[in-house]
Parts: sequence; C-alpha cells; structure tokens
Amino acid sequence: MTMTSYACGVMAILMASLAMGCSSSESSSPTSAGSSGDSGTGPEKLSLAFASNCARCHGTTATGQDPYPSLPGTLTLAEFTATVRAGRKLMPSFTTKQISDADISSDYYWMTSKR
Ligand code: HEC
Repeated sequence: MTMTSYACGVMAILMASLAMGCSSSESSSPTSAGSSGDSGTGPEKLSLAFASNCARCHGTTATGQDPYPSLPGTLTLAEFTATVRAGRKLMPSFTTKQISDADISSDYYWMTSKR
C-alpha cells in the first residue's frame, strides 16, 4: 500500500539532513561522541527503546504518521512522560522496563531540539 512511499519519504529526509550535516561541518573531530554523556546540546538521536516501542506508530524520527501525532506536540516533559506511562486512546501504556524515564527525557529533548 502506501508504506513504500512513506519509507522513501523518510529516506529522502534523512539523506537531505545527512548531506547538509556533512557540508556544514568540514572540520568535525574524528572522535564522535557515541553514547558518552555530553549533556550540553542534547542527545544525538532517539533511544533504542523509542525505536522498538514507539517508532512503529510515531515514526523513526517521531514526526508521526496518520493517525499518530508528531511528538512531542505541545506537551511539557512531565505531561509527555505521563502520557507514555498512562497511554491514551489508541496508544498503549508503557512500563519503566519498556522505556526508562531517562530514555523518555532524552528522547523528549531530542524531539524538541529538532522542531
Ligand atoms: C499503537 C500505536 C502507538 C504506540 C506504539 C505509541 N503511541 Fe504514542 N500515541 C498514539 C496515538 C494514537 C496517540 C494520540 C492519542 C490521542 O488521540 O489523544 C499518541 C499520543 C502520544 C503522545 C501525546 C502527544 C500530544 O501532543 O498530545 C505522546 C507524548 C506519545 N504518544 C508518546 C509515545 C511514546 C514515547 C511511545 C513509546 C514509548 C509511544 N507514544 C508509542 C499511538 C501510539
């Protein structure tokens, strides 16, 4: 059905942002941050927990797809976390085993830094 064109759209967006990232930072250092905690500018990407629990509805970059909303919308971190823990309508609830509070907050800041 439309999955193929959706995937292509996501690929195009990813490719475009990769290309921009490359051209604008010629002098990047060879030691990329990886998972080490640099809390200055927010996380590099969404957590693995997001990829395995949330991406199937909200998309791999949390921009949503009908009928699932783009995240984080207008929510504060507290409201965002409460929504994940309680679920809402079509969305199931998630335990701290599925996605930790630390992952939720780093994902939230990643999303807010991208919008
Ligand atoms: C089964 C599909 C599904 C999955 C999986 C899912 N969601 Fe949702 N989510 C929804 C739907 C549908 C809504 C809209 C609920 C409504 O109608 O109010 C929503 C709403 C939200 C909202 C509220 C957005 C706003 O602006 O009000 C947040 C935050 C959210 N989801 C985060 C997550 C996170 C984080 C995960 C993974 C832990 C996740 N969701 C997994 C379907 C899903």
